[in-house]
Order: sequence, then structure tokens, then C-alpha cells
Amino acid sequence: MGHPLGCFGHLLWMLMLLHLPLREVHGFFPNIWSRTISFSWGSITHQDMTEDAILNITLRLFMETPHPTKGKHIQEEDFKGKTLLADDIFAAFYGPEVSAKRFRAAIAEVANANAAMDFVNTTRDDPVFHFDSELIHSTNARLLQVRKEVLQAVRSEQYGIARKMLGQLLHSLQDFYSHSNWVELGNEEIHLDLV
Ligand SMILES: *[C@@H]1O[C@H](CO)[C@@H](O)[C@H](O)[C@H]1NC(C)=O
Ligand SMILES: *[C@@H]1O[C@H](CO)[C@@H](O)[C@H](O)[C@H]1NC(C)=O
Repeated sequence: MGHPLGCFGHLLWMLMLLHLPLREVHGFFPNIWSRTISFSWGSITHQDMTEDAILNITLRLFMETPHPTKGKHIQEEDFKGKTLLADDIFAAFYGPEVSAKRFRAAIAEVANANAAMDFVNTTRDDPVFHFDSELIHSTNARLLQVRKEVLQAVRSEQYGIARKMLGQLLHSLQDFYSHSNWVELGNEEIHLDLV
């Protein structure tokens, strides 16, 4: 991938902002349960990581995008050192009159599909979904395929499916860093040849 806000960034923007789900989303496994089950209080879960990444990229896209009618840009300084929240980002960009409720639900859909990869019996024990058993090439080949399917789903306006597959893709991608020895080899950057 080239520029970090390239194709995938804009894809996220389309998924999150333009076509929000019309109904409430029921959480699959809230953060608290996945933490309790893994006995890893204080560690970062897949859900936290996914939500943070979506909020981060949304903020960056909003900074690059002038408001459609007011034409103003939002400033990064306003968010320095703060926990990113969907409501704050929306209020800064759109003003307080626009609710972030459906945006939050859309993020939850992606994050829950991500977390479900560790619980659903069709994916939890299969190494190809988790970069396990040294299946690096097979897992990445699968990710490239899922990436293509996410883009196809967006093009055919199947946004719910696209969000779910995006969550699944991000899960495997996150597992690359925790299940391979990439970090132990001293790498501090992302692996540019993945996905
Ligand atoms: C977004 O993520 C980048 C890369 O990790 C980081 O440098 C930046 O500080 C984050 N932005 C905010 C507002 O948290
Ligand atoms: C997975 O779980 C479903 C029910 O939740 C069950 O019907 C199915 O047999 C299970 N499959 C495997 C491979 O364990």
C-alpha cells in the first residue's frame, strides 16, 4: 500500500460515514468479556485496537476534508493528548447538531466482527485466520482475497457485509504482529508487503 490514507482509508470513510446502518447493532462480545475470558486485564484487545484505528483515520480524513458547507478544516491540535471519541470528532467536524450514534454503531460492527474471530468455532482454531503455524503466505493470500471482497462489497453497496469482512481482515492483520516474530526481530514499523 502506498500512502496510508490511500485506497483503504477512503474505503473506511465510505463504510463508516456515507452508509451507516439503519438499525441498532447488538454487540457480540463486549470488550469487558473478552478481557475477562483471556485474564488479561489492562492489555489491548482487538476491539480497542480496531476502534482506535478507525477513529484515528477518520480524524485524519476529516482534517484533509473541508466541511461541505462551512468549508473549515478541523485541527489536530484540538485532539492532542486526548482519547479519541467518535462524538468529539463528529462535533468538531459537523458541529454539535449531527449525532455520531450511527457512526458508533458502524464502528462496533467492524470491531465485533473482528473480536468474533477468536470465538466463533469456524475461525477460532484455524491457523490461516490468525497467522499461526507459520502459515504466513497462505494467511496473506487469504487477506488479499478478503481485501478484494471488501472492495467488491462496497462497490455493490453491501455495506454491512463490507464492515464485517473488514473486521475479520483487521483481526488477522493484527495477529500478524502478535503471532509472528516480526516484533522480536526488532522491527518497529509495519510490514509493508502485507495485504
Ligand atoms: C494516529 O495514529 C498515528 C500513527 O500511530 C499517530 O502518530 C497519531 O498521533 C494518531 N493521532 C491521534 C490524534 O491520536
Ligand atoms: C459450531 O457451532 C455450531 C453451533 O453454534 C454447531 O452447530 C457446529 O456443529 C459447530 N461446528 C464445529 C466444527 O464445531
